Amino acid sequence: MLSRRSFLRATVVTLGAAFVPGCGDDTSNTTGNRTLVKGSGYFPQSVASGDPRPKSVVVWTRVVDGEKAGWDLDVELEVALDVAFTKPVSEPIKLQALAAYDNCVKARIVGEPGTTYYYRFVYERDGIHYVSRVGRTKTAPDEDADVPVRFAFVSCQDFVGRYYNTLLALEIEDLDFIVHLGDYIYETTGDPSFQTPDDARKVVFRDPASAIELGASGDVKFYAAKSLDNYRDLYRTYRGDPALQVLHEKFPMIPTWDDHEFSNDCWGANATYLSGRANELDVARRKAANQAWFEYQPVDYAGDPDFAYDPAADVPNDIRIYRDFTFGKHVHLVVTDLRSHRPDHLIPEDAFPGAVLFDEATLTASPGGLPGPTIATPYVDIETYAGGLYKNVLSQVATASGYDAAKVTGNVSVDYINLIVAQLNGGDPPPDPPIPAIDAAGLPRGLSYFDLNKVSFYAQIGTRYFVHKDAFDVFSTLRYAADPKTQDVMGEAQEAWFLETLTGSTKTWKVWANEFNIVPVQVDLRQIAGIPANVQRRFYMGVEGWDGFRDKRNELLGKLGGLGNVVALTGDLHTFMVGTPWAEQDPTKKIVEFMTGAVSSTPFRDELSSQVKSDPVLSQIPAAPLLALQIDDLVLDTETKVNPHLAHAESNTHGYAIAEVSAAEIVVTLHAVSGKEVTTNYAGRTAEFVTKMQKTRFKTVAGGSDLFKEIEGAWKRWDTTTLMWT
Ligand SMILES: [Fe+2]
Repeated sequence: MLSRRSFLRATVVTLGAAFVPGCGDDTSNTTGNRTLVKGSGYFPQSVASGDPRPKSVVVWTRVVDGEKAGWDLDVELEVALDVAFTKPVSEPIKLQALAAYDNCVKARIVGEPGTTYYYRFVYERDGIHYVSRVGRTKTAPDEDADVPVRFAFVSCQDFVGRYYNTLLALEIEDLDFIVHLGDYIYETTGDPSFQTPDDARKVVFRDPASAIELGASGDVKFYAAKSLDNYRDLYRTYRGDPALQVLHEKFPMIPTWDDHEFSNDCWGANATYLSGRANELDVARRKAANQAWFEYQPVDYAGDPDFAYDPAADVPNDIRIYRDFTFGKHVHLVVTDLRSHRPDHLIPEDAFPGAVLFDEATLTASPGGLPGPTIATPYVDIETYAGGLYKNVLSQVATASGYDAAKVTGNVSVDYINLIVAQLNGGDPPPDPPIPAIDAAGLPRGLSYFDLNKVSFYAQIGTRYFVHKDAFDVFSTLRYAADPKTQDVMGEAQEAWFLETLTGSTKTWKVWANEFNIVPVQVDLRQIAGIPANVQRRFYMGVEGWDGFRDKRNELLGKLGGLGNVVALTGDLHTFMVGTPWAEQDPTKKIVEFMTGAVSSTPFRDELSSQVKSDPVLSQIPAAPLLALQIDDLVLDTETKVNPHLAHAESNTHGYAIAEVSAAEIVVTLHAVSGKEVTTNYAGRTAEFVTKMQKTRFKTVAGGSDLFKEIEGAWKRWDTTTLMWT
């Protein structure tokens, strides 16, 4: 009996030099004496390869035989140096596609550096040999090879209601490999806040009873994956897409994950659907997501010669996906996992909005001293102030909203109290007599959740998104000083490995495959007329990623910025961005960041517009929809200079990015297409689709961290003082 652990491993196969077949001429439809019959029906997800290293690459398929459901299936792997398979490099290799593994099968083939291999799988049934489509893959060049490297990076490929047209365009590129920065799948079947299923593009769970029912859109219920079966359904469906299949057939992929491989805005094994209404820790669910990812992705498993997934271990130790790759002398690619080992974002969704986090004495004694009156605002002791009048009022409001009134205690923000009082007095019927507003003169000042922009009891706005920048900076730094674990995005072991790998690298370029934006993405609404006073602030658009872990980011940039030639590749935001994030304590410590737009997921600008529409606070601000539409102008504003690190933003498009690396420079070309092209299927019309794509070229040059853009044939440098290309 094999142990469970040994089920979930893959086979290591050493290839020889060109192998001379035993019998006559070999052609594409024979191996030795046997005739091969096209059998892609037995390989419904086709083939894939990934994690190329100088001596190895992983190949993958899934075998399905409708009459043998639940069986382990024998399959053979053939590897050759040519597409016609006249130069095989091994006898056919016997493998088993195990039912316990969803009949996915992987092999790490060990061969020569910088070599293109062709591979296919053969399944025998009733004496007939059915063959998969042919995959092409390539090992990484030798460590010492002085060779250019050309690769693509992509992210965010929502399948529901959307077509992978951008992948059609990517398929005709000449690439060494593809880096996938996460959101390879989305875990929901049709969340109406961002997904619109149609007959051709939908996900259906075989067993919806084992999924999380998130709600209903009309009569149709929508779900999030929870069981292993659910997550497998997602990969089966996504990998059923013909464009994605061809992409995998042509190029090896190096994937990492972001949140949606498990759950939106997740941290560790925690989901965040309920915005603080309940504890959403689910270790079994996270393990199901991890196992399905491991089954379906053609990945090697760092540190394990058999690259086994370990279902017996608990998260996050069941799988280690952070790992590094080298491509000749010039590229060291370091792939991180920013979801498994991290803490929660800093502002809890269920915090009482009025609660004061730091009182006047604490702020005054802190290194930064007492902040100004737009950051630290007046508060009262709710227990005793006005004989407990406001405690009574706020407790009733909390209880009426299903919120725990016991949290209405201690020091409470006067601005928050006065907001609630104004709402009650403006209600119908108004209280009799009206509740007096509190006069803030002479009161002590502190920092409350309300000062961070948390307005409602359970909220994403003011906790994960759209947070007052200046107050958040004070709050997060004080939290970090008290407990560095609050910003430990990588976890101790990964961070030590990450820094050691990058600082110890002898390659020309250190390339970080990074999930979410490093460059700060802020908006400055202080000069915008016609919006409420508490919105006339500077905001972080999201504090669920690096903007929420700014002290840790500064620390890492301080260490990386001094190395030179460090480039981050980013996904997640559904927008193209280019910039040079630096350490706030030392602006000379900077790196270069290239962010790619989504393959198909809702562009950032459209996401903002729908957030504005659905949020109870933002939807009340008449100027908000227009501000959402102007997001690129806001983040690139040259008057407020709110993001001097940011040189380019394009948030209403889809696409991919291609990096061309040499000893002298990295040139990154953004390939973007209007967001509206995603609902038309361009299959068979790739050339037409390609004409719709806009290319923009940027580069950075070895020995510095400057950024250049190609404008009318000339390279212009980004000046972080004037915010111009000069
Ligand atoms: Fe995404």
